[in-house]
Amino acid sequence: MPQLAYVNGHIVHHAAAMLHVEDRGTQFADAVYEVCAVLNGRILDWQPHLVRLRRNLAELGIVWSMADGPFGLQARRLIAANGHADCIIYIQISRGTARRDHAFPDAAPPNVVMTVRRFDFAQRVRQLDTGIKVVTQPDTRWGRVDIKTTGLLGNVLAKQVAREAGAFEAWLLDGETVREGSSTNAWIVKGGRIITHPTGTHILPGIARDSILRLAGEAQILVEERPFTLAEALAADEAFLSSTTSLLLPVVAIDGEKVGDGRPGPITRRLGELLWAEVARQTGWRA
Ligand SMILES: Cc1ncc(COP(=O)(O)O)c(C=O)c1O
Repeated sequence: MPQLAYVNGHIVHHAAAMLHVEDRGTQFADAVYEVCAVLNGRILDWQPHLVRLRRNLAELGIVWSMADGPFGLQARRLIAANGHADCIIYIQISRGTARRDHAFPDAAPPNVVMTVRRFDFAQRVRQLDTGIKVVTQPDTRWGRVDIKTTGLLGNVLAKQVAREAGAFEAWLLDGETVREGSSTNAWIVKGGRIITHPTGTHILPGIARDSILRLAGEAQILVEERPFTLAEALAADEAFLSSTTSLLLPVVAIDGEKVGDGRPGPITRRLGELLWAEVARQTGWRA
């Protein structure tokens, strides 16, 4: 089955999926995006992703007329056309194509593109047992990282450092404070409580983060939404990260130092199980 993409209402061959060179996403990163997990052919947390997408468009003043119903149908049509039961769908909406000028164009319809890529979620379940390593990097990003824009250079450069260090993720530091990962939210566990940075302008409000907060509440696991430092993370009992494509992964080392005993801890495992149960509830997917 050929790989297919969506460009402004049309499903086209991936290799032929193009935007104009003066797309504002290319020239200014004037674009927002979402990544959703699809398991068993069903989109996980579609509604929260849609709410976040619309909020981000509103924050940037990008006017997009397509209603939720027809848009959901287009996304599902692309997923079905690609034929992968387990995949991720990438959605990007830019302010449109216009002669290059920093100020907004008068009348440019947004450019909407979507791509689909097969994804091995079973690998994430296996990683619950092994855990992953993170390194730290300075947070060099702009001041509104709560808006999910394609301006990701700070994230890209930090992730590359992690990759070259043999780590899964880079945790971004503002002074001593751990903000989040380059594409994940960051968590520690201390004295039976889970701790994660509060929402605001310094982190992306992750959809997986929200699910974990809700599941922790239901399981009566105590939660603190507050900034924590690198020193606290290094002294934590457990640590983990979360995102749509990572789900929940135990962090067993930070900058080469073991977290706790260097193995996934009990609260992390429990939350991982709860999150995968939620995935099964929504999609019917099982490892
Ligand atoms: C910087 C950043 N933080 C956190 C996340 C996690 O968000 P979500 O759980 O919605 O995937 C992402 C996801 O891409 C991200 O890019």
